[in-house]
Amino acid sequence: MEYDIKDLNLADKGKLRIEWAGKFMPVLGNIKKEFEEKKPLEGVKISACLHVTSETANLMETLKLGGAQVALTASNPLSTQDDAAAALVKHYEIPVFAIKGEDNKTYYEHLNQVLDFKPQVTMDDGADLVSTIHSKRKDLMKEIIGGTEETTTGVIRLKSMASEKVLNYPIIAVNDAKTKHLFDNRYGTGQSTIDGILRATNVLLAGLTFVVAGYGWCGRGVAMRARGSGSNVIICEVEPLKALEAVMDGFRVMSLNLAAEIGDIFVTVTGDKNVLSSEHFSRMKEGAIIANSGHFNVEIDIPALEKLAEEKRKVRDFVEEYTLKNGKKVFLLAQGRLLNLSAAEGHPAMVMDMSFANQALSALYLYRNGDKLQKQVYAVPEEIDEGIAIKKLKTMGIMIDKLTAEQEKYLSDWKEGT
Ligand code: ADE
Repeated sequence: MEYDIKDLNLADKGKLRIEWAGKFMPVLGNIKKEFEEKKPLEGVKISACLHVTSETANLMETLKLGGAQVALTASNPLSTQDDAAAALVKHYEIPVFAIKGEDNKTYYEHLNQVLDFKPQVTMDDGADLVSTIHSKRKDLMKEIIGGTEETTTGVIRLKSMASEKVLNYPIIAVNDAKTKHLFDNRYGTGQSTIDGILRATNVLLAGLTFVVAGYGWCGRGVAMRARGSGSNVIICEVEPLKALEAVMDGFRVMSLNLAAEIGDIFVTVTGDKNVLSSEHFSRMKEGAIIANSGHFNVEIDIPALEKLAEEKRKVRDFVEEYTLKNGKKVFLLAQGRLLNLSAAEGHPAMVMDMSFANQALSALYLYRNGDKLQKQVYAVPEEIDEGIAIKKLKTMGIMIDKLTAEQEKYLSDWKEGT
């Protein structure tokens, strides 16, 4: 079996972490059992480009037990957990091509190596597989039934491919399932971003001014958890509606130029580029901490930061100190890459349970129905999404009420009024 990982000796530690994560993934666990019995994906070739974590390992195992032939590469050069990668290779016999800290060239070599498996289904987190197939590996398209996409940034890229009519196979936007983005993006990113800041810096969040750029589902989660830690939270937004929501959620809302002067910590979660740029860096206070939890490392204009700086040094793991020409120091976390997966372990398994249940069931849906789908971006079917919510509640031991027949009738009847 071909693979490229850091160190096979990390496999036993990785296996323990994969099993630990699995304990918190009961919905995926049920799918795993069913897949193992029924082998619904027998012989299907799936190439995945996801963050290589203990949670992803559980998804890979599920697909493999379902009969699929899977190969995995990382969706970010800094997010790989080398022990999980080693365990997947040694204990689960799944080919993995990912090393934490790999350079961009290796990242794309690895991506191409999983494409060499000639997938029928692609599984993306950021759309790098789809974009590589559509630009450099067009020969692979004829075998492909469809693909899934895990994240907001990837869905935006894929929808723009579909609207330019260049998308050549159907995609299921796992991100857009309610059981994904309302939980993973909000509570997952919220907690894991704070976790990343704390592991990298060990700062006391209470009393600090914490600036969140972007008030999408991820931004909401980060803002909520920062407030819960005692920080004074400021939101910066470009969309009026989201800004208004942030105001009425009780946050201070202002332009980044103003926030730049008073923030102690800055987190970007916008999905767009150069959100923090030289005009902001030069306004920042001494000791400001800058981080990104958006998918790509484009949200902080690092070349501009380098230009403004006269000195740079690593002061802790995942912390670089930039001394600016104005004499102030600012600290960049995790090279501006996804902080939560670089400096911490990503979202907890309990929330990835729903995201990856969506992935497993969407892959199966594609396999069964791909030939009936257009070259478009599709929502996760409602029955899969709702089914996951029902199962998650059940595994949490939570019972909810049911509408009576009378109530159901009332909801479907327009005649009954005052
Ligand atoms: N994205 C965010 N957190 C993750 C995790 N723990 N595993 C895989 N992908 C993730």
